[in-house]
Amino acid sequence: MDLILNKKSLPADPFKLFEDWYAEYSATQPKEPSAMIVATASKEGKPSVRTVLLKSYDKNGFVFFTNYESHKGQNLEENKWMQSLFYWDSLARQIRILGKVEKISSAESDDYFLTREYLSQIGAWASAQSKKIQDREFLVKQFEFFKKKYPEGHVPRPPHWGGFRIAPVSFEFWVGRENRLHDRFLYEKNSEAWTISRLAP
Ligand SMILES: Cc1cc2nc3c(=O)[nH]c(=O)nc-3n(C[C@H](O)[C@H](O)[C@H](O)COP(=O)(O)O)c2cc1C
Repeated sequence: MDLILNKKSLPADPFKLFEDWYAEYSATQPKEPSAMIVATASKEGKPSVRTVLLKSYDKNGFVFFTNYESHKGQNLEENKWMQSLFYWDSLARQIRILGKVEKISSAESDDYFLTREYLSQIGAWASAQSKKIQDREFLVKQFEFFKKKYPEGHVPRPPHWGGFRIAPVSFEFWVGRENRLHDRFLYEKNSEAWTISRLAP
């Protein structure tokens, strides 16, 4: 049955709505439910988007991991605004989250890095993400070099690799409905509370 949204039945807290929808989607689409599109922009306003994996979220925000020296990392150094997007085709839903991004603490990044598989840890050292490289062989050589350098169980977190957290100032929840009369609800942070508005589709 179609999801019918109205202002009265929506939770006051957008994190709660995100949590409910995420659980629903994960139950039906276990393959990469955490895929999240993130849009950044340079200080001149030049945009770029890519997919990352959402690793955790709570009241403080939504966390993903990457190379801080990558293209997105450089954008976020210059311009902290970011928008995330989840498009869940099987549920005909979309969620957008706008906010400013901060690096998570080194201790948090260390904790997560330790949980990664050995070869993923090596991969973080081997790839200077977003830099131009000569050929694939170069990448493979880097991988082998770091495998020799750091045996399993002894891989430090690269200083240029870690988490970012987006602290939302707005969420938009979209549900596809018949005749393109879709439902859209915007939550905007207003000091500590959230105001909810319906948007035209
Ligand atoms: C399904 C999927 C998940 C991905 N997850 C991540 C991720 O969690 N972190 C990451 O840095 N790149 C991830 N990537 C690769 C990015 O999309 C992107 O190619 C890379 O981060 C470089 O982006 P940039 O040059 O804009 O910084 C993922 C790609 C796909 C298709």
